Amino acid sequence: MKGTVYLVGAGPGAADLLTLRAVRVLAEADIVFHDALIPAEVLALVAKGKLLPVGKRSGRHSTAQTFINKRLADAARRYRVVVRLKGGDPMLFGRAHEEISYLTRQRIEVRVVPGVTAALAASADLGISLSQRGVARSVVFATPREAEGARPSNWAAAVAAADTAVLYMAAGEARSVLDALLAAGLPPGKPVAIVENASVGYALAAGTLADLPALAARSAGGPAVVMIGDVYAALQASASRDLLPRLTSQSA
Ligand SMILES: C[S@@+](CC[C@H](N)C(=O)[O-])C[C@H]1O[C@@H](n2cnc3c(N)ncnc32)[C@H](O)[C@@H]1O
Repeated sequence: MKGTVYLVGAGPGAADLLTLRAVRVLAEADIVFHDALIPAEVLALVAKGKLLPVGKRSGRHSTAQTFINKRLADAARRYRVVVRLKGGDPMLFGRAHEEISYLTRQRIEVRVVPGVTAALAASADLGISLSQRGVARSVVFATPREAEGARPSNWAAAVAAADTAVLYMAAGEARSVLDALLAAGLPPGKPVAIVENASVGYALAAGTLADLPALAARSAGGPAVVMIGDVYAALQASASRDLLPRLTSQSA
């Protein structure tokens, strides 16, 4: 018997941001391999399936990607509905490519269920559009994080060229991100916002690019995106230079 592997986007944290399709697939799942940071409310949507954590959490225990690929393939030989549940959207900084190519080579059917990515959840929390008529017409999602053996990336140049940029996995290396962005030509006064725990009672720190290490140092350690662009100038002008817990997610 060969099942189907579903790469399912769990969204940024709030369970009611999952798609209806994700909820249906989780309810039907026979087995669910999930990331480390998936909240209990989302895992609770798994009706009967076995839950197996395979989280790759930065700086903590990780399950090697090749081992995850193999476990997914083995599960698809035993079960009808196999779910690989990933934070945000599986197709953005989620190693989906490795899993899809491996499973496809094994002739296992793969389907992807999109999720709300962190950049969009953070924008919703802030109430600030990534694009803005007359201000921002290009948006870049980037990460400074380099996988071992990866070829060098021009991420900083792409960020400098964009009107608005959202950096994933960047808050923990704010000093080197700042250096790279200044070297790429971004001015130190560029407006910056860090949004931590988007969609689940988020916290905001806002200031300029030059402030980035100081803003990042105030983080409580939750997942965070670094947002850069003139669209965030209003935050800078307001009294929000300190971490400012605001209203919880729009779902409330
Ligand atoms: C491995 S990437 C996965 C991204 C995910 N696939 C997505 O679409 O959001 C993990 C990074 O996503 C960002 N992230 C995930 N959840 C977040 C949240 N609720 N609030 C802010 N940033 C978040 C952080 O930058 C974190 O380091």
